[in-house]
Amino acid sequence: MTTFTTKYLGFTLSSPLVASASPLTGNPEMWERIELAGAGAVVLPSLFEEQIEGDAFALDLARDQGTESFGEALTYLPDVGSVETDPDRHLTLVEEARERLSIPVIASLNGTTPGGWVRYARHLADAGAQAIELNLYDVVTDPRQSAGDVERRYIELVEAVRAEITIPLAVKVGPWFTAFAHFAAALQNAGADGLVLFNRLYQPDIDLDTLEVTPRLELSTSAELRLPLHWIGVLSGTTTCSLAATTGAHTGDDALKLLLAGADAVMTTSALLRRGPEHLIVMEAEMRAWMEERDYDSVEQLKGSISRRNVPDPEVYERANYYQALHSWKPTSPAR
Ligand SMILES: Cc1cc2nc3c(=O)[nH]c(=O)nc-3n(C[C@H](O)[C@H](O)[C@H](O)COP(=O)(O)O)c2cc1C
Repeated sequence: MTTFTTKYLGFTLSSPLVASASPLTGNPEMWERIELAGAGAVVLPSLFEEQIEGDAFALDLARDQGTESFGEALTYLPDVGSVETDPDRHLTLVEEARERLSIPVIASLNGTTPGGWVRYARHLADAGAQAIELNLYDVVTDPRQSAGDVERRYIELVEAVRAEITIPLAVKVGPWFTAFAHFAAALQNAGADGLVLFNRLYQPDIDLDTLEVTPRLELSTSAELRLPLHWIGVLSGTTTCSLAATTGAHTGDDALKLLLAGADAVMTTSALLRRGPEHLIVMEAEMRAWMEERDYDSVEQLKGSISRRNVPDPEVYERANYYQALHSWKPTSPAR
C-alpha cells in the first residue's frame, strides 16, 4: 500500500491534497465532507487587511459619534465591545473549524502593507489556527514604486507577521516577479516556512453593454498548472521552505506532476467548487493507481524527483524550454 503522507510546514499530512482558501472551506457544512474525502489540511478563507482596518475605522466612528451625542458624558462610550465585527466572526470560524476538524486548520491573512492589522495573525493563532497563510495579492499601479520598493514592503510585512506568531507561516504570492528565485530566498530569510505558488490574478473585464469595468471570476483549468509547476520545479531543493502548489490542480495527474516537480502539498479550489469535496477521493484514487503501477512506495519518494535539480538537463526549466517550445510547433492544418 502506497504511503500517502507528506511533510508540509512541519506537519505530517495524511495526504498532499489540501483544500485551499475559498467559500467552500469557509462553509462549516462542508468541513466534514472535505475531511472524509481525504484532504490533508484545510485553508480557511482569508481575513483581509481591508476588513480589519475597515472595522477599526467603523469602531472609531461609533465611539466618536457616541461622545458627540452625549457631550456631557465624555467618558461615555457606546458598547462597541458587543458589536460583532467581520474579524470577530472570522475568529469564531477558526475556533469552530479547530473543534470540528482533526486535520490541520490553516488560517489565511490577506494584505499588502505592514500595519496594526497584522496583530490578527496572533489572534488567529490564539483562536486555534495551526498555521498562517499570508496572501500578498497586490496590484501596484504607482509608477513611482519600484520593484525593489514593493519587495521591501512585502518582506517587512512578512517579518511583522512572523514576529506575531510562533506557529508555521506560509506566504502565498503571485507569479510576476522579475527575479522570483531571489525573492523566494528573501521570503525564507524573513521567516516564511512555506511558499504557496501561485495566486491567480483576476483581471477585470469590460462590459460592452454598460461600458463598465467589471470584476470577472472564472474558475481555473488544468492548463494553468504549468506556471506553479515551472517555479516549484526551479525552487525545489534550493529552499528550506515547504512548497505548496495552487492554481490548476484538477485531477490526480495534475497533482502528480506538481509533486514530481517538487511540491510538498497540492492545493485545489476550482475543482472542488465545480465537483464538490468528494472530488478529492477521485484525485487520490488516480494518484494511487499511477503510483502503484510504477512501484512508488510513497509520496515522499516521488516529491521533487523531476525538479530542475534532479533532471539530467536543467535547461528544460530555463530559456531553452522557451526556444524548444517555439521550434516544436507544427501546423495541424494548412495556413490560410
Ligand atoms: C471564489 C473563490 C474565493 C477565493 N478566496 C480566497 C481567499 O479568501 N484567500 C485566498 O488566499 N485565496 C482565495 N481563492 C484562491 C484559491 O485559494 C486558489 O488559490 C485559486 O482558486 C487557484 O487554485 P485553483 O486553480 O485550484 O482554483 C479563492 C478562489 C475562488 C475561486
